Amino acid sequence: MLLLKRALLTAAGSILISTAASAAAQPVAPKLTPRLRGLLVSEMVSVRTAAHGILDGLVNGDDASVAMLAQRVHDSFIMERSMTPRDRKDLEAALPKEFVAMDQSFHATAGQLAEAARAHERAREHVLFDRMTATCSACHSRFATDVFKGFAPK
Ligand code: HEC
Repeated sequence: MLLLKRALLTAAGSILISTAASAAAQPVAPKLTPRLRGLLVSEMVSVRTAAHGILDGLVNGDDASVAMLAQRVHDSFIMERSMTPRDRKDLEAALPKEFVAMDQSFHATAGQLAEAARAHERAREHVLFDRMTATCSACHSRFATDVFKGFAPK
């Protein structure tokens, strides 16, 4: 979410996925206003669609689609446009720093994936796609165990 990047740039530290995944679950959705939660869910639905399309592009050798979709994830333009200054303040108050850091790393990886696809570096595309989807599950297992029950402690 680029919006988070802009809103909370200073808050971020760098968090390793492994560290974050082993930390305590801390669902963020209940802390969000209904409007912010709606924005987050629509962003998630669109990144899922993009991730599926990227997988298709990777296995089809369609670098142009990989580049276009990964760039879209990186830019997250829909949500960015929907954010008001008030939304940003609400987000700042609601989201833990680790969430913001993970989100930044997710978007940065998508940007690198777009670059690799433009350069037709296929092996790198696969590594970055793997890293990107590992970040989806790392974030869900830490911050969305209420939605994804499979990640809840057994
Ligand atoms: C930085 C954290 C973070 C990252 C990265 C992330 N998600 Fe999510 N995702 C969440 C949170 C938090 C929710 C719960 C939102 C809610 O229900 O309010 C969620 C919910 C979802 C949902 C459910 C939306 C719904 O209909 O309720 C889908 C699907 C989803 N994510 C897909 C993805 C995919 C695919 C990726 C990676 C390509 C990804 N997410 C990356 C935090 C993240």
